Amino acid sequence: MDSNAPRSDPIWTDDGISRIPFRVYTDQQLYQRELERCFYRGHWSYVALEAEIPNPGDFKRTAIGERSVIVIRDADGDINVVENVCAHRGMKFCRERSGNRKDFHCPYHQWNYDLKGNLQGVPFRRGVKQDGKINGGMPADFRPEEHGLTRLKVATRGGVVFASFDHEVEPLETYLGPDILGYFDRLFNGRKLKLLGYNKQRIPGNWKLMQENIKDPYHPGLLHTWFVTFGLWRADNKARLVMDQHLRHAAMVSTRGQGGKSDVTSGVASFKDQMTLQDDRLLDIVHEPWWGEPTAVMMTIFPSVIFQQQVNSVSTRHIQPRGPDTFDFVWTHFGFEDDDETMTRRRLRQANLFGPAGFVSADDGEAIECSQQGFAQKPWHRVLAELGGRTAENTDHMVTETLIRGMYAYWRKVMEV
Ligand code: FES
Ligand code: FE2
Repeated sequence: MDSNAPRSDPIWTDDGISRIPFRVYTDQQLYQRELERCFYRGHWSYVALEAEIPNPGDFKRTAIGERSVIVIRDADGDINVVENVCAHRGMKFCRERSGNRKDFHCPYHQWNYDLKGNLQGVPFRRGVKQDGKINGGMPADFRPEEHGLTRLKVATRGGVVFASFDHEVEPLETYLGPDILGYFDRLFNGRKLKLLGYNKQRIPGNWKLMQENIKDPYHPGLLHTWFVTFGLWRADNKARLVMDQHLRHAAMVSTRGQGGKSDVTSGVASFKDQMTLQDDRLLDIVHEPWWGEPTAVMMTIFPSVIFQQQVNSVSTRHIQPRGPDTFDFVWTHFGFEDDDETMTRRRLRQANLFGPAGFVSADDGEAIECSQQGFAQKPWHRVLAELGGRTAENTDHMVTETLIRGMYAYWRKVMEV
């Protein structure tokens, strides 16, 4: 089906941004259009941290939307991103998640590519000699330089690597916009990053629900026992919600309070007054000078990534859609090269809040899964995201769904829905 074709059944019938039709999360044709317009055109996608590929020849396989790509550091130290599709007969040739290579070859017919994606070897290109004559081979006008791997545009900043299939995409800095760039640079301020490890999970829900989850400061103090009980994230925390000028990216900025009972815990089922930790090192939080005042900044960069700083735990969370109702979610936990051993242990301990079985994030994965089930069950219905109003603007409190409305204002424009 042509994902650009006008629809006879309009999906979104009002011109608002606060009532999101359930089919926005379930419709296959819309999803194809999202891949084209949000992931493959006009946008930057997160692909890696430079710390994952520190040496010449290091590579990492990852994905942009549903397209498999390889991020490679070449002999000159430059980072290249190429599509993982052989120029010969299309094999997705790279199957390792990461490694080190002098070149790449496709197992099917051994076509060979250098670390920039140039085709450098074609077996039997000039045929074989049999009975004194040459048989077969590629046509005489075959030019290897026309048959390299698809190369993506690449941008790096602060040790983070982004790529785009769209070579006309605006510069990364403009793409993020000055306000979000400020928060980006706060986290990735030029210090070398240290890779600590990964979590990977497949969540049976639409990819946008993950963006929404981190644009939603309403739920953390209600859904998450951990946050509300220990005070890391509650409605009475000091907070700011900031978007870029297109309203597609956001930063949720908050400063932790003291925890314990207060107005915002009364009647909240997830607040467990009696709950204590067996190992209270999980709350061994040490203020780091680069934070400034906020103790947590959660950035949603449309469409592909979340950058997390939640006290001492820092990570990237990469969204890789797989159909309208599933996405893979890859967490990369990191620290900084100048961290001492105690700080590294602390970051790793606090990382237990996150990932598929995290004390906090396990709740989110399940909430997303159950939301998707609700959408599938009642396709004619819609989400109500009207907390704090029906428009989208920056705020200095958390009792609002403004960031979600902002994303849909942008999404409707790009998607022409
Ligand atoms: Fe890759 Fe033939 S498909 S070499
Ligand atoms: Fe959450």
